[in-house]
Amino acid sequence: MHLSSPSPLHAAQRAHWQVESLALDAIDPALIAGDQDLFYLLVSASFVETGSDTYAANLVAHYADHPSIRAWLGQRWEPEELQHGRALRRYVEAVWPQFPWQQAYDRFFAEYAPLCTVEELNDDQRLEMVARCVVETGTAAYYHTLRELSREPVLRQLLDHIRSDEVGHYKHFLQYFKQLQAEQPVGRTRIAGALYARLKELRDSDSDVALRHVWAHRSTCFADDGQDFAAMAQRLYGRVRRQLPTDMAVRMLLKPLLLPIRLEALLRPPIARLATWLALRPVTGHS
Ligand SMILES: [Fe+2]
Ligand SMILES: [Fe+2]
Repeated sequence: MHLSSPSPLHAAQRAHWQVESLALDAIDPALIAGDQDLFYLLVSASFVETGSDTYAANLVAHYADHPSIRAWLGQRWEPEELQHGRALRRYVEAVWPQFPWQQAYDRFFAEYAPLCTVEELNDDQRLEMVARCVVETGTAAYYHTLRELSREPVLRQLLDHIRSDEVGHYKHFLQYFKQLQAEQPVGRTRIAGALYARLKELRDSDSDVALRHVWAHRSTCFADDGQDFAAMAQRLYGRVRRQLPTDMAVRMLLKPLLLPIRLEALLRPPIARLATWLALRPVTGHS
């Protein structure tokens, strides 16, 4: 997939999509309701996205001395992430109305909220921007993958909207990083270190916390098939991993290094191998 890949939707329409415009009445349940894997992946994503505001407040405070960054985070980024959560919830509740979303979410949030601390941010504002690029690369790749795994048209359109937003977030964070870097450069070794550290963290991402709480409430929608959590998670992550758009992710991950074009091309194959190894889990991250 290319960052600028054409979409069936006009770019202007995509930029202004609204939860209310989702054609929930047009969902074809036969193409989705029995898909347990997508149930886990979509509900987990709806939890992490809905919890975004907890994390967003920390990030806004981290850039308090940069009014334009702070304004974009508060007025665009956070509302868009929360809209992802609302839209995914609406879709999940339309397809699996018996799932006690709020109850499961409350349990998830009680465990998740204490993990969203200011200490988790990189002290260096430039390197935190690099970390944000990694997270948005992860979310863009994740929603791209979910769309590939989905056959239901309303869901595919929703995932296309969200994926497009996540790529937009990545572009903003990269742009802000370049701005900060131009004012006061930080060395490539430290940038590479920040990239690697955040990539490694994605392996223990928040999606694991979310997945456990979805799993705990699965019996409302699916009969017990005797499988345990670890086996389900391994199967699920394997399915996601095989579909991840590695080329796209590697191109996005290398950008903050600001390398000469030929060197960037040389580095892509080894970094692709590293990224594949690291992508052992679905990467919703702090989106
Ligand atoms: Fe998101
Ligand atoms: Fe995002």
